[in-house]
Amino acid sequence: MKISVLTLFPDIINEYTNHSIIKIIKNNNLANIEVLNIRDYSLDKHRKVDDTIYGGGPGLVMSIEPIVNCLKEIKKENSMVVLLTPTGKKYNQEMAKKFSKMEHLILICGHYEGIDERILNYIDLQLSIGDFVLTGGEAAALVVLDSVLRLLPGSINKDSLEVESFNDYLLDYPVYTKPEVFEGYAVPKVLLSGNHKEINEYRLRQREIKTKINRPDLYEKYLEKKGN
Ligand code: ADE
Repeated sequence: MKISVLTLFPDIINEYTNHSIIKIIKNNNLANIEVLNIRDYSLDKHRKVDDTIYGGGPGLVMSIEPIVNCLKEIKKENSMVVLLTPTGKKYNQEMAKKFSKMEHLILICGHYEGIDERILNYIDLQLSIGDFVLTGGEAAALVVLDSVLRLLPGSINKDSLEVESFNDYLLDYPVYTKPEVFEGYAVPKVLLSGNHKEINEYRLRQREIKTKINRPDLYEKYLEKKGN
């Protein structure tokens, strides 16, 4: 798959993709990550990308022209164009799974007081990563990029993906490593028992408890699915 990120701050995206698992995914050509500087598509002689707000108001708004110029150059028939904005639809794991099956995902990062609203004529989806406001869309684009890339075949052990949080509406079970006791805190005995049936039961129970406490909304869905 290919992911294109349109941003005014390409270094932020490039830096992130040069570490850890995302770096391996990139180096193994499991995905093609393209980072485009919106400023490069400004036709203004000073490479201007923003302007004052019609109707008045504080701050600057990102102009539509450089972004659309860029989109026109990179968008293909199978591209999905996503605008990161706090006013978008809320992102979740299900969307990450859908995105991971797409051929080309284009992520547009907004800044300042947002982007000229006419951008909506050129995109497929507005996406928010949560009910809070960031200084720009880059951190949000990285959230999408990371969560999608790790789902690509070959990037992460398939077994890890199957038991992780949000599958079956349950959060992941707690994990432990050496030492067996740290400052008086011991690893649950059952995990040292070697009894896989008991370990699996314990882990499922932990997932249920954790979900019930931390995410009652998910727990409701889990119970519904289970048929309670
Ligand atoms: N840009 C600013 N805040 C954002 C958010 N919560 N989600 C996506 N993009 C954003």
